[in-house]
Amino acid sequence: MATNPRTTAKSKAIFVCGECGFESPKWMGQCVCGAWNSFYERRVEPGGSAAARRGTLRGAGAADGGAGYAAAQAAPLAGVEAGGTRRLDTGMDELNRVLGGGITLGTLTLISGEPGIGKSTLILQAAIRLAGRGLKALYVSGEESPEQIRMRADRLAPGGIPEGVLVLSATAIETVLASVADERPDFLIIDSIQTMYTETLEQAPGSVSQIRVCTDILMRECKAVGLPAFIVAHVTKSGDLAGPKIVEHIVDCVLSFSGEKSRDLRLLTASKNRFGTTSEVGAFEMRENGLAEIQDLSGCLLEGSLGQASGTIATAACEGTRPLLMEIQALTAGAGSGFPRRAAIGVDNARLGMILAVLERKAGLDLSGSDVYVNIVGGFRPEGTSSDLACALAVWFAARGVIVPAGILAIGEVGLAGEIRSVRGAESIAAEAARLGFTRLILPQANAKIKTPPGISAEGVSSVLEAISLVFA
Ligand code: TYD
Ligand code: MG
Repeated sequence: MATNPRTTAKSKAIFVCGECGFESPKWMGQCVCGAWNSFYERRVEPGGSAAARRGTLRGAGAADGGAGYAAAQAAPLAGVEAGGTRRLDTGMDELNRVLGGGITLGTLTLISGEPGIGKSTLILQAAIRLAGRGLKALYVSGEESPEQIRMRADRLAPGGIPEGVLVLSATAIETVLASVADERPDFLIIDSIQTMYTETLEQAPGSVSQIRVCTDILMRECKAVGLPAFIVAHVTKSGDLAGPKIVEHIVDCVLSFSGEKSRDLRLLTASKNRFGTTSEVGAFEMRENGLAEIQDLSGCLLEGSLGQASGTIATAACEGTRPLLMEIQALTAGAGSGFPRRAAIGVDNARLGMILAVLERKAGLDLSGSDVYVNIVGGFRPEGTSSDLACALAVWFAARGVIVPAGILAIGEVGLAGEIRSVRGAESIAAEAARLGFTRLILPQANAKIKTPPGISAEGVSSVLEAISLVFA
């Protein structure tokens, strides 16, 4: 009979850092990577791992090497059958979009975000939609009582909560597994991983070891039975996941839910996705009765204005499959006697510095005595560099106190020589801009040959100076 290496009497303990994976024979308060209290215990065969690894590499037959490791054989990759992934429609298009077309069966998705941003609301709403289609969703909460969850569900499903939404108030992962075995749900929610613990470890819930081992246990269970699961994780003030980074390596998908608490707009993005891209953005609005999906995110970010103030101009970025239009604002003010300030929201600080340097050297704009503030309206942070040109134009027009004519949208990457480089998705941006009423698209010369819909003209530029004179004319 094969022996399980985890349970043989000869196995000994090693200690592994949950943050960086460093292995030590002794428990250490601080790891070499600087993390504190990050070690968890792992049982291994005495002196065995190297020998066992050699045995496994030698291949069939002798692979066991007496250490309990199963034989493994390499196979030509071309001969491996590509398994099609089966997905579950969550009933929420924006969530499906970020996941890459629904949640893949047997996978673990981590959803992180600040407290109060709406994580529990989002997944409870998905659970209600799934159950509305006759599926069974198990919502495990270690944070709220079933009564509190019921109150939230009443807001989300005023017509009545479907039968298939089950709640379990538990914090022991063994209890969760027992309930999964009993109920056989189609969808599992753990809210939150920081409240879960396994009885096999002595550490407190929320500790690095507990979070890591609980996630590991859930991962194995979900893979074994093909169950998709969502795990809520809190983030620290600095925006990092509260808990070991290693959890991000274990799970299949890491989503983050963000937004400004003062506004109702919420954005869902993926920072890791084994079954889709990480560039899609899902948009929601937090309302009285839950999260409403926003199909027209550009319209929402632009708030109906087509750029009429000095220092305000529209720009766009192609996020995933979706062109997103947004407004960028700049303000310059005398810095007085102190150091001039540069503050950017939604634009990378280093990129702003570069754009200001280009404006000084290539467009003769001296900002050495001015504070410069740049803001992308709506709290959106576009990826990529397509908003560079609009940022440069916004700063230039703000400094000159000139109003940008209405109906203009500018895209393009600014290079160090002041040249405008091509951007991705210009054609879909033009279509979206025309839909929202823009009449002129200032874009890189390299993109100027795109087909434009009626009502909008594409005007190619090859330098920042050229763009300024085109808009100023
Ligand atoms: P919640 O999902 O509890 O946040 P998290 O799980 O991320 O901590 O959402 C809390 C906020 O959402 C709270 O301030 C109330 C608000 N909310 C609404 O505005 N409308 C609703 O329908 C619901 C359920 C919550
Ligand atoms: Mg919550």
